[in-house]
Amino acid sequence: MLPKEPALTTRQRLAGDRHRPRYHFQPPSNWMNDPNGLIQWNGQYHLFYQHNPNGPLWADMHWGHAVSDDLLHWTDLPVALAPTPGGPDEAGVFSGCAVNNNGVPTLIYTGTRGEHNEIQTQCIASSDDALLTWRKYPGNPVLDRMPDEAGQTRDFRDPFVWQDGDTWYMALGSRIQDVGGAVFLYRSPDLIHWEYLNPLLVGDIHRHGVTWECPNFFKLGDQWVLIISSHMGNYTASVLYFAGSYENHRFTPRCEGVLDYGTLYAPLTLLDDRERRILFGWLREDRPAEAQKAAGWSGVQSIPRVLSLDAHNRLNTAPIPELATLRGRHYHYGPQDGAALAVSGLALDIVAAFETTAAGLCGISVACSGDGRKRTDIVYDVATQRLAVRKITPELFDITTTQARDVPHPLAAGEPLQLRILLDGSVVEIIANGRTSLTSRIYPLPTDGDHVQVIGAPALQSLDIWEMSSIWHL
Ligand code: FRU
Repeated sequence: MLPKEPALTTRQRLAGDRHRPRYHFQPPSNWMNDPNGLIQWNGQYHLFYQHNPNGPLWADMHWGHAVSDDLLHWTDLPVALAPTPGGPDEAGVFSGCAVNNNGVPTLIYTGTRGEHNEIQTQCIASSDDALLTWRKYPGNPVLDRMPDEAGQTRDFRDPFVWQDGDTWYMALGSRIQDVGGAVFLYRSPDLIHWEYLNPLLVGDIHRHGVTWECPNFFKLGDQWVLIISSHMGNYTASVLYFAGSYENHRFTPRCEGVLDYGTLYAPLTLLDDRERRILFGWLREDRPAEAQKAAGWSGVQSIPRVLSLDAHNRLNTAPIPELATLRGRHYHYGPQDGAALAVSGLALDIVAAFETTAAGLCGISVACSGDGRKRTDIVYDVATQRLAVRKITPELFDITTTQARDVPHPLAAGEPLQLRILLDGSVVEIIANGRTSLTSRIYPLPTDGDHVQVIGAPALQSLDIWEMSSIWHL
């Protein structure tokens, strides 16, 4: 076997890849999916993630690990959890969370067995060396019984655990056959003995999908919020949230919505020491497996986002304010200036506002080729109140999965369109008016230019663009 290449060298080797982000977290190489085990410990943020350390496609799940002081710059740490042959996680260490168990950092995750990872049980591991190495509990699994009402399903995963007084609670992703996705609620005095309480919520199979994965359940302001990820059979509207009240272990949602309409999936949140509820999400690739293999990497973490509820109990997301520390050269344009911009680049933070009093299209094009024929349009139609990402790449159309994403974004009368666009190589995170999130990937990026253009320049109120610096010292 070849000696393992150091993480930094691997990062350097891949740094020339135009599609690879510069200011979003990724492992040195290979496959990554869900964020796992987010926790702040001694002031530092720990990010674990679903990882195949041996290849750029999903297989043989481990937990990768990185640590940060500011949620932006990360130091790679050794793999935290690997499958144990003969153990309850021998086929894969699936998603889960981290808690502070009376001073002991503890991970709670789904172990899988079987050829198709179909035997799913809940396991724990703890660390006594500041989160560097992890000891699996010898009595694992700590939870292997599904509630009777789940019927024949074997989907039973992604524990999200919190403490209330002396009691631990666990929300588990699952489903009820022919009914819909479900989150089941358990409680425990010690993280080891778990008692089933009741479903926290059961969805409607047609509206909310068949199986729910990666639940998050937390108080936000005076509401309780449940976030779930759901396979809807297509790639739209797959991360949903519900907001409402929680009493006697029953959750009553009063409001629901879509957390992201695009490629963001399986998000996980943490509460930090500034009482911020911060969300990371896996940004899926949007290109064929062959292309991911050739690249040698797959999967990106979103820029962490602070969650809040607005006056209508809609979930709002905002990139952490710390992101401003990566901003470099700044361009500002006022109402009359949108017709010809002199900005280009693939690592940009864009803040734009448009008037929406007259029908028409407005928005921003990014990654525009020199002749403007290849580009990605982020465009709002004032008449239909829909926001779309359109990848205009004529020559290469057939080899890309260019699903046009076109989603509702109702504005109140007179409310301007506000766009926040984080462009980073193939990643484009789009948040409109804080409440409509449409994360996308751009494949392939044109090789002959990366300009920014305004769509509907007469409606422009203001535009600020910053060039972003890399989070890696390569
Ligand atoms: C979500 C998910 C989880 C599972 C993990 C496996 O993307 O399917 O339900 O734990 O990924 O990698």
